[in-house]
Amino acid sequence: MSVNTAPIATIASLSQHEGQTVTLRGWLYNLRASGKLLFPIFRDGTGTIQGIVPKAAVPEQVFETLKNLPLESSLTVTGKVRADARAPSGFELDVENVEVLQRVPEETPFPITLKEHGVDFLMEHRHLWLRTPRQSAILRVRATIMRAAAEYFDTSGFIRTDPPILTPNACEGTSELFEMDYFDNDKAYLTQSGQLYIEATALALGKVYSFGPTFRAEKSKTRRHLTEFWMIEPEVAFLELDGLLNLAEGFITHIVTTVLAHHRADLKVIGRDIPKLEAVIAPNSAAISESEVEKDASSRPEPKAEWRDPRISSEAPKHPAAATEPGAPQLVLNQPKGPASGTWVSTAPNRFPRLSYDEAHAMLEDAFAKGLIETRHKDGDDFGSPDETYISSQFDKPVMIHRYPAAIKAFYMQPDPIDPTKALCVDVLAPEGYGEIIGGSQRVDSYDLLAARIEAHNLPLAAFQWYLDLRKYGSVPHSGFGMGIERAVAWICGLDHVRETIPFARTLNRIYP
Ligand code: 4AD
Ligand code: MG
Repeated sequence: MSVNTAPIATIASLSQHEGQTVTLRGWLYNLRASGKLLFPIFRDGTGTIQGIVPKAAVPEQVFETLKNLPLESSLTVTGKVRADARAPSGFELDVENVEVLQRVPEETPFPITLKEHGVDFLMEHRHLWLRTPRQSAILRVRATIMRAAAEYFDTSGFIRTDPPILTPNACEGTSELFEMDYFDNDKAYLTQSGQLYIEATALALGKVYSFGPTFRAEKSKTRRHLTEFWMIEPEVAFLELDGLLNLAEGFITHIVTTVLAHHRADLKVIGRDIPKLEAVIAPNSAAISESEVEKDASSRPEPKAEWRDPRISSEAPKHPAAATEPGAPQLVLNQPKGPASGTWVSTAPNRFPRLSYDEAHAMLEDAFAKGLIETRHKDGDDFGSPDETYISSQFDKPVMIHRYPAAIKAFYMQPDPIDPTKALCVDVLAPEGYGEIIGGSQRVDSYDLLAARIEAHNLPLAAFQWYLDLRKYGSVPHSGFGMGIERAVAWICGLDHVRETIPFARTLNRIYP
């Protein structure tokens, strides 16, 4: 059959074409020759498939064309789909015909080969590196994480409201701002977070979220920092810190559940330890039979007595969704109930451990005394990377650390009424040492306190007047968080650097390609 008459198929859909002759459109990914047999591997964006080309079985011109074809030449290939249990995709292609669209010049071969390349070389060729199976798999998982993240809010009554990217003031700290000229002697800054603006839309619409690029000019070279990254941020009127923790837990659970449902093959290509992800959404021991609780006591996601914070109830919130346990994780999404109904219904089954900052500090003291960590954590300081890694290593689920010292957190965070030196905030640390993926808080709702905070942080009051207005006209308790997509992708895919989590990473020392 000729290239032109066989139905066009994609590699991902070949199971529907077993035994049929199809045409695939793609690129030559790899080629092995063994005497009178060629084994080309084709890729088409949806996957890869090995072709079999016996010299005796195909027209001579087909064999000759493929034999010397440089890798990444574009082509259409026609062949019969044959099931093969040994093939990674489950199928092989008995090649019948091939047409080359563009032949890569011999003298400039595709620069990325199957041998190991240094990271700098790969990043310099990022536009081509993206074609390799692992990088493509990461981008597919990223797309699903973004879709699932938005879906979680879209299906539970949130309205997406898009904040501006050009802003007149800082949100997260003035030292991290990208500044630009904005006409007649004015300055503008690339947004660090949509939060301040979606606080306004939350007070208009009740439950809102934003999803877009954000920018941080911090001169940080760590494996977790990008200068441009995507953040999804919910903001909810009448929501307090406890409800925010439930929201974050339900949100992460939905994302991990969705990725596991659709991307097992991709996760394998990436090399992810899949059981570690399954553990994130597995019912916790508090909800399973007593004998299992005994067996599993060490992994119970509850603070040990010696570092328990007396202010925090360790009881799971009573909610119908929690009553469905044990069993597979279930996500019961809220249906829209109209804006700001006044109650946030928790949909989270309370699987993730929740530690106050003080509890986490006590845990680190304990670890230091036992020689399990090298550097002693100083009470009042933020947690360093080794601290976070130690804390998260104690659990197989994300850990929610709440009530950090107000002094080390943003100006807009509501103080804890029980101990005003602490902020009603939460950082969610991913398991396995992947660090903070979510930061959020209840917001200051008093005009006077917020004005004082703005001044204490040396922020220009005039630029924040509109933000203060939100506390003047019907202020209510409200809370929200932000999750950086790239941090979530790094964790879920098990990547040690965020540079592989986004098509074209922007970092301190790279803005090419
Ligand atoms: O903790 P952050 O700075 O919080 C905020 O921006 C709040 N205004 C969000 C809110 O409450 N609506 O950032 C939130 C998240 C972090 O937990 C992390 O996942 C990600 O954004 N993030 C970064 N990701 C990549 N590179 C960076 N430089 C990042 N900075 C923050
Ligand atoms: Mg943070």
